[in-house]
Amino acid sequence: MIGIKIIGLGKSIPQRCLTNDEMSTFVDTSDEWIKSRTGISKRHVAVTETVETLATMAAKEALVSANLLADAIDMVIVATVSAETTMPSTASLVARNIGANRARCFDLSAACSGFIFASEVAISMMKQSGYKNILVIGAEVLSNRLDWEDRGTCVIFGDGAGAVIYQLSQEENQILSIETGTDASGAELITLPVQAEESPFYKGKSKRPVIGMDGRKVYVFATTKVPESIEKVVTNAKLSLENIDWFILHQANSRIMDSVAQKLSVPKERFFKNIQDYGNTSAASIPMALYDASSQFKSGDQIVLSGFGAGLTWGTMLLRWS
Ligand code: ACO
Repeated sequence: MIGIKIIGLGKSIPQRCLTNDEMSTFVDTSDEWIKSRTGISKRHVAVTETVETLATMAAKEALVSANLLADAIDMVIVATVSAETTMPSTASLVARNIGANRARCFDLSAACSGFIFASEVAISMMKQSGYKNILVIGAEVLSNRLDWEDRGTCVIFGDGAGAVIYQLSQEENQILSIETGTDASGAELITLPVQAEESPFYKGKSKRPVIGMDGRKVYVFATTKVPESIEKVVTNAKLSLENIDWFILHQANSRIMDSVAQKLSVPKERFFKNIQDYGNTSAASIPMALYDASSQFKSGDQIVLSGFGAGLTWGTMLLRWS
């Protein structure tokens, strides 16, 4: 039998906390607007931290919680849209920093669905190639990828990292179902251009390397696609929504989570939220929420993780906690 389960979790956030009140001293916004429209009270922003250092700290904690040496890691995948370098990958830098000397390393870009996409890749590769331990990290520093005069985006995002170690064993499989998807017709609805140096030949226009988003259209996409994806994953596992103990969604907007709960007719208390403390940390948000929620899990709890974001991408996974 091929069984895969989570054996370690880690989380890391920058020290600097930025409250809505402080933000409203330099952005045309208010604590009342941000809280009522998004559920966010504060977020953490990098001062000296980087995607690399946050990812490394989360990875180290995950190794300790798994009681595993770095040498046992077969693969490191970092899901991110804000890495400091595209070469080398952040995954390579993390592997070097933690001493994961045997690991194959690469980064994956699927925005706020990145952690679920990376988990699907990790799980498939464990099944296909027999890798025993895979470290999947979601890590972002978005605070330096924002237009701080665009109140429609800068109030939403935050920085952080979350790490998960998946292990292959002969025990019962704890990953019950997973699906990912992309509606590329919405590719321009959330954008983050990469700044390139000028070339003496290039005649195209360069775009500012800041996040742009059509918030209303993304809201409609999320509240339509996420319930569909959750129902599909739960049905594929031959379960029903009443069997699900926890729903851990990408922490993009508290109202999106409430709307998904309502559409699925599930009590919203089963939807874990930490958006109030961290804002939207893109690929880091699901592993960070999983980490924060895990103290409340009981063995055997059935947990849905669901992400959505730029691409437009979505991904949902159902697992059993052991
Ligand atoms: N403070 C005060 N007023 C604001 C702010 C602000 N920070 N931002 C916008 N407003 C104003 C607007 O100017 C507008 O004013 P007007 O009516 O006078 O024109 C009014 O508030 C309403 O603006 P909307 O954009 O319609 O506000 P909405 O209720 O849609 O909330 C939000 C905006 C929070 C962005 C919401 O649309 C949302 O959460 N969308 C989903 C975003 C998302 O999920 N992204 C996830 C993917 S991100 C990724 O993949 C990286």
